[in-house]
Amino acid sequence: MLSAFIRFEGVLNQAMARFVRRADPMSPDVPYTLHVIEEEAKHSRMFARLVAALGTGGYSPTGLHGAVERLAEPLIAQSRLIFHYSMYAVESVTDTLLAEILRAGTKYPALEDVCRIHRVEEARHMSFAAENFLDEYRRASRIRKFFARVLAPVIATAIYEVLTPPSVYVRAGVASKTKQAWSLWLASHRSPQRMDLRVRSMARVTMLLKKAGADRAGSRFAWRLLGVELS
Ligand SMILES: [Fe+2]
Ligand SMILES: [Fe+2]
Repeated sequence: MLSAFIRFEGVLNQAMARFVRRADPMSPDVPYTLHVIEEEAKHSRMFARLVAALGTGGYSPTGLHGAVERLAEPLIAQSRLIFHYSMYAVESVTDTLLAEILRAGTKYPALEDVCRIHRVEEARHMSFAAENFLDEYRRASRIRKFFARVLAPVIATAIYEVLTPPSVYVRAGVASKTKQAWSLWLASHRSPQRMDLRVRSMARVTMLLKKAGADRAGSRFAWRLLGVELS
């Protein structure tokens, strides 16, 4: 998960740097966007130090998980609407998981410190992403709104699913082959606990979509397929 957080922040920073490059340097959005880039870079360093301290080793985006990330990257960078939605989704899914780590407690004080720091700083980024998304969705054309609604559940689910790659089971010594690692991954992802965590990690995302009025019929069906009710 720490490796995935570093990569997610890299994707966000890459897109934000591109927006800054295209924006009017005097635009009021530029200083804050640069500030977010700075904070995300600090978080990534913090996650990398934690990986080293815990001795977990890093995970590269390979196989199906890597392909999902490579597909998402250009999509996020091209549309501010999709970017702000994805930023909100990444941060709320991550934040739910960090809250869960703190709630359950661990043997690692350094990990808990990192969770606490990240939760405080991300609360600001989340309101920045939410306000921008609401504003951009309101002003978007009908076709853009439609694509945003269709992509919303896919993006949120992809974020949640790529966090834990099957290779963790190989490194933990509970699977010796890729096939075995994938069957453990599938069993874990279908377990009631993981399904429940997935639904909970998307609660704030679906609340934002409802606030934007992006919870129409087509989108409801896609969310339902993923086990999330837009009630
Ligand atoms: Fe962050
Ligand atoms: Fe952030």
